[in-house]
Amino acid sequence: MKGFTMELILDTADLEAIRELNDLYAVDGVTTNPTIITKSGKSFEEIRDGLMEILSPEQKLFIQVVATDFDGIMAEARYICSLRPENTYVKIPVTRDGMRAIKACKAEGMGVLATAIYSASQGFMAAKNGADYLAPYVNRMCNLGDGVGEVVRLQAMLEQAKLPTKILAASFKNVEQVNELLENGIEAVTIPVDVAFNMLDIPSTPMAVDDFTRNWQAAYGRTTLLSAE
Ligand code: G3P
Repeated sequence: MKGFTMELILDTADLEAIRELNDLYAVDGVTTNPTIITKSGKSFEEIRDGLMEILSPEQKLFIQVVATDFDGIMAEARYICSLRPENTYVKIPVTRDGMRAIKACKAEGMGVLATAIYSASQGFMAAKNGADYLAPYVNRMCNLGDGVGEVVRLQAMLEQAKLPTKILAASFKNVEQVNELLENGIEAVTIPVDVAFNMLDIPSTPMAVDDFTRNWQAAYGRTTLLSAE
């Protein structure tokens, strides 16, 4: 397996949630797509400015093109990459026009994430075209067959071909799917807000803390380690 630093990305345009999760976790960046942005109820410009305000220069920002034709994708890609000097990536779906654009964007030196990946072969060809990241849609692939197995296969294909492209697994519906990918050595995941909170919030933990507090209070008459001495 390649040496790597695992990346935790948030798959949302909910600015409040991003602020909260960014305080809570070691977040490496944010991914959006056209649907995610429309669901925020805000304009693209508001989301764009909000994300650029929240994210530090080291955190990665992934914005997807809306255009579907080669020239349109290229124009939007250049715009997206001009937003921040570093750590900004254009997300391009792996259609035929998209695949051509991935190759052309890399030739122009842009950061590229190939998205809407449903099979190992699609991901492999995008990696061969130089994409920096691949976003296989794990849950959607699970609805069609062995989604996790297909992503693990893609990882093995990249390793065999010695391609440096990183898998940034996407489209998660539950914590178990994320765990399965991480357990299999997938290098990056982008998770929605509910899954991000569910990775931490198990009711038994606050219940255990309540017991500690109650016992301490009963014994020492206070709810802090520090006494008034
Ligand atoms: O990042 C890709 C992801 O947003 C797609 O997720 O939930 O629409 O399958 P979903």
